[in-house]
Amino acid sequence: MTKSRRINFDESIPRMIERLKSEHIVFESNLVRVENSIKMNNIKLATQIVQDMGEEIIQHAVEEEARLMRVIMKNAKDESSESIKIMQEHNWLMNFLNNRLTLIKNAATSSDPAEHEKAKGDLNEFVDNLRRHFKEEEQIVFPLTLRSESAG
Ligand SMILES: [Fe+2]
Ligand SMILES: [Fe+2]
Repeated sequence: MTKSRRINFDESIPRMIERLKSEHIVFESNLVRVENSIKMNNIKLATQIVQDMGEEIIQHAVEEEARLMRVIMKNAKDESSESIKIMQEHNWLMNFLNNRLTLIKNAATSSDPAEHEKAKGDLNEFVDNLRRHFKEEEQIVFPLTLRSESAG
């Protein structure tokens, strides 16, 4: 479904982390739009917003795995377990974007109100999980990467 851009290995780690944080802010503003669309019962729009941000989220996740985890595994392997768990949440995210979103899209055009409620629940789950994921990265993965990079 998505094609990822090249990863820029020349960007410094501190700079990259600043960029990832600012990308979180942009994603968060989209999550607010998703929430508002759900509240207004506009599942179609909510789905569209998620779909439109999908490719960038995947690229963002691929970069985190390729660059941050490399630093952590090289310099702070003993402290890596929590960060690995947080990176594994990307699997859920990919599955949602590549598979579940299509089902939700179909539910949006269904005449069954129960399908609509299920779709809304799924979209809210996406918002909650992604928000929690960003927070975990900012509290655990990013600081560990910075600490271990400057020590390594
Ligand atoms: Fe991530
Ligand atoms: Fe992230």
